[in-house]
Amino acid sequence: MSAAPETFNPSPETQAWLAGEHNLLIDGQRVAAASGERIEVFDPATEALITTVAGAGPEDIDRAVAAARKAFKGEWAKLTSYERARLMFKFADLIEENMSLLAEVEVLENGMPRMISEYTIAKFGGEFVRYFAGWVTKIHGMTIPVSPSEARNGESLTYTKREPIGVVGAIIPWNAPLAMAILKLAPTLATGCTIVLKPAELTPLTALLLGELAQQAGIPDGVVNVVPGYGQAAGAALSEHDGVDKISFTGSTAVGKSIIKASAGNLKKVTLELGGKSPFVVFPDADMERVIPGAVRGAFFLQGQNCMASTRLFVHEDVFEPVVEGIAAMAGGMTPGPGLNPGSMLGPLISGDQRDRVMGYIEDGKASAAELRCGGEALPGKGFFVKPTVFGRTNMDMKIAREEIFGPVMCVQAFGDSELEDVAAEANATIYGLSGSVWTKDISVAHKMAGLIDSGQVSINCHAAVDPAIPFGGNKQSGWGREFGMEGLEPYLKTKATTVLF
Ligand code: NAI
Ligand code: MG
Repeated sequence: MSAAPETFNPSPETQAWLAGEHNLLIDGQRVAAASGERIEVFDPATEALITTVAGAGPEDIDRAVAAARKAFKGEWAKLTSYERARLMFKFADLIEENMSLLAEVEVLENGMPRMISEYTIAKFGGEFVRYFAGWVTKIHGMTIPVSPSEARNGESLTYTKREPIGVVGAIIPWNAPLAMAILKLAPTLATGCTIVLKPAELTPLTALLLGELAQQAGIPDGVVNVVPGYGQAAGAALSEHDGVDKISFTGSTAVGKSIIKASAGNLKKVTLELGGKSPFVVFPDADMERVIPGAVRGAFFLQGQNCMASTRLFVHEDVFEPVVEGIAAMAGGMTPGPGLNPGSMLGPLISGDQRDRVMGYIEDGKASAAELRCGGEALPGKGFFVKPTVFGRTNMDMKIAREEIFGPVMCVQAFGDSELEDVAAEANATIYGLSGSVWTKDISVAHKMAGLIDSGQVSINCHAAVDPAIPFGGNKQSGWGREFGMEGLEPYLKTKATTVLF
């Protein structure tokens, strides 16, 4: 494995876009930050500076929130639901038409393999927006028969209306920047809300590009505002802001808790998608042809920088050795490389800090009683590459098995012929509850175990099934509320009940 990764250049179209100014998008205008601050954006595969973007501070957040507030009551509010849906369909088309540009920018700022970025845009981005566009014409309230003590039957009418909640502040992480932005934008637009979107300081470019596409689609100025900035400055100002009605946050559990505190001022509504440490439970009758690639994909997708990652494997003692051996052989054969390399299946971690954090956990694992089965090293030279790492014989007393690592590290532990409840108790022994999977051909065991896993999502014979229609979100400290699906509209709506006495 060569130390210095080969360089793969982006297309001239992408280079031309990167050469642009990258200011804040507020009220349809591209404006510099009030402070003049610029944030440098680096390619994690080469550590080279890609470009700089304006870095928003509290004054810019004030301007963006004011623009979103004005737009909420403007032209946008007067569109029919059909017109709003049509703008969203156009936006979805533009996302797909610009796949190559979006993917190259995402690969450059985040590091993920190009094929994963393209797959996300083609199979998820456009469809996610279209799925929510389909709801626009179907959001409605109901009529409610009231108790005769309130009004005699036939002499009153009570009905509910579903109204947009207002100005949404969205704060997103860097691990899948394009998908994260899209999954905040789609329900915002579907419900008639407006948004101030703050991308992660490490990956601000795709969000700015999406903001341009939203404008091109004809979405009125001020509906979509994009404000790159640091968490402590822009993120904190947005979550404290009295002009924001709702925060939708994806990121670490620690920051999620600080957002709850910051939101107390005006009691804005909050939804949180936070960390995970998801179990992947393998019974001895499972189809090993599916288990092994499923576990590798589940754990190392996005280099393990994935909240749903299958980081804790529970494997029955009878099949423990062949499963771990198969996984270690497959994962050990995956060579991390630059995402723009067409053959790349595993990219770098997002930053030097993240690599060092992950390597800290790996060193901790090596010093424990766990068996290192593959990986365990960062690549020397430029780029934040870490080899896929598998630890066998772990247990829940180990830090690597308990804490969210957010890197390419899988921990495998064995179970014997114990009761399902006991296996589930181990699987549930973290502060998280986001995802999980059960692998067996026995439908009773499968459904019973799926019922026992304490998480917002469980898959059987696959891991982390994702579709715009499948509700997604966490139990315990993995979050508040659900995104995706019909339930994903709820946090963006409020109900008004109206009663008339005839
Ligand atoms: P982070 O939670 O600090 O960053 C996520 C977003 O929150 C970014 O846009 C950031 O600017 C913003 N932010 C940071 N501090 C804020 C504050 N005080 N108020 C408002 N917004 C704020 O995540 P970070 O530091 O980049 O990653 C650290 C660890 O967090 C990772 O190693 C991983 O364990 C976890 N994480 C989990 C994610 C998930 O989806 N489950 C996503 C990102 C990080
Ligand atoms: Mg942080």
